[in-house]
Amino acid sequence: MAAKNQSNITLRTGIYSAIEPERFEHSLDGQVALVTGSGRGIGRAIALALAQAGAAVAVTGRTLSEIEDTAHEVVARGGKSIAIAADVVVKSDMEHLVSQVYQQLGEIDILICNAGINTFLPFHLTDSDEWWRQMEVNVKGPTELTRLILPSFQKRNSGTIIYTSSRAASADLPWASAYSCAKSAITRFAGILQVELDNSPEALNHGSNGISAFSIHPGEVKTALHNTAFPQKTKELAPHVVNHMEKISKLQPDFKAELAAWTCVYLATGNGTVLKGRLVDCTKDIDEVKELVSSTPRPRITNACA
Ligand SMILES: NC(=O)c1ccc[n+]([C@@H]2O[C@H](COP(=O)([O-])OP(=O)(O)OC[C@H]3O[C@@H](n4cnc5c(N)ncnc54)[C@H](OP(=O)(O)O)[C@@H]3O)[C@@H](O)[C@H]2O)c1
Repeated sequence: MAAKNQSNITLRTGIYSAIEPERFEHSLDGQVALVTGSGRGIGRAIALALAQAGAAVAVTGRTLSEIEDTAHEVVARGGKSIAIAADVVVKSDMEHLVSQVYQQLGEIDILICNAGINTFLPFHLTDSDEWWRQMEVNVKGPTELTRLILPSFQKRNSGTIIYTSSRAASADLPWASAYSCAKSAITRFAGILQVELDNSPEALNHGSNGISAFSIHPGEVKTALHNTAFPQKTKELAPHVVNHMEKISKLQPDFKAELAAWTCVYLATGNGTVLKGRLVDCTKDIDEVKELVSSTPRPRITNACA
């Protein structure tokens, strides 16, 4: 039997009934998705899942070989995909990316802001530029990309935006101060954006707002991030951090990237309306979370993670 957590919600580590791929066959036919950081790891799994559900997918990241590989995989499985190299913190890259997606695939329906970086290092040992670089990639990248795409969503009064956040958004994770601040910020941004959209004159003209914003905690997935987060500097100056995180990592379940990927499909197909604006913890059974959220008054600080 699957484990339950403190709020009596079933812990999920991989595909389960609510997010079974078969449920979503053709559900995104005709839609266009853009997934940042989709050359590898969680973003790659999200791109493949959205494509399997029928969406044409724009794959992006800085490493051309990786994004081309994801796009080829989508096409090999019968889907439609393009790969465009871009850095999320370079404005001209993002403008070029969006214009290429519009030209080659059409207007975007699903935006997944997934690209992210993290370095474990005590704050006092972290170089100022490195600290702010993490804030820029994890917060400025997704918010500025949203700024570029939102007018098209507003014109059509439809679209889904999902920000890959982290459990770090709702915990005091030591030695990852920039990352935690960044993930808290992007989670808060998703919630605020949702309230703004729900109350915008454009939405009221349409009768109601048709645009959804979510942030997600994907689960602790063993990706390249688990190596890049511990650079040589951390190993030399703060070996206790490496040791501590290794111990914690061994205690964690083996969460699969497909868990987050198919949760994104679930949300992008309109199944998560009651969770709009919230931090959705993919490791918790989403139908049970929806039931709990529907039967509980909305807390002042909103997320479905805690
Ligand atoms: N893995 C986990 O346990 C975990 C847990 C919680 C949250 N997350 C979040 O999940 C997301 C994906 O992480 P992951 O674990 O899949 O890590 P990953 O395998 O390292 O993938 C990160 C992706 O982001 C891209 N990226 C990084 N910097 C970029 C930049 N400046 N411009 C454009 N793309 C950039 C990378 O491509 P390039 O390097 O080629 O640019 C790569 O495709 C991140 O937001 C991360 O914070 C992960």
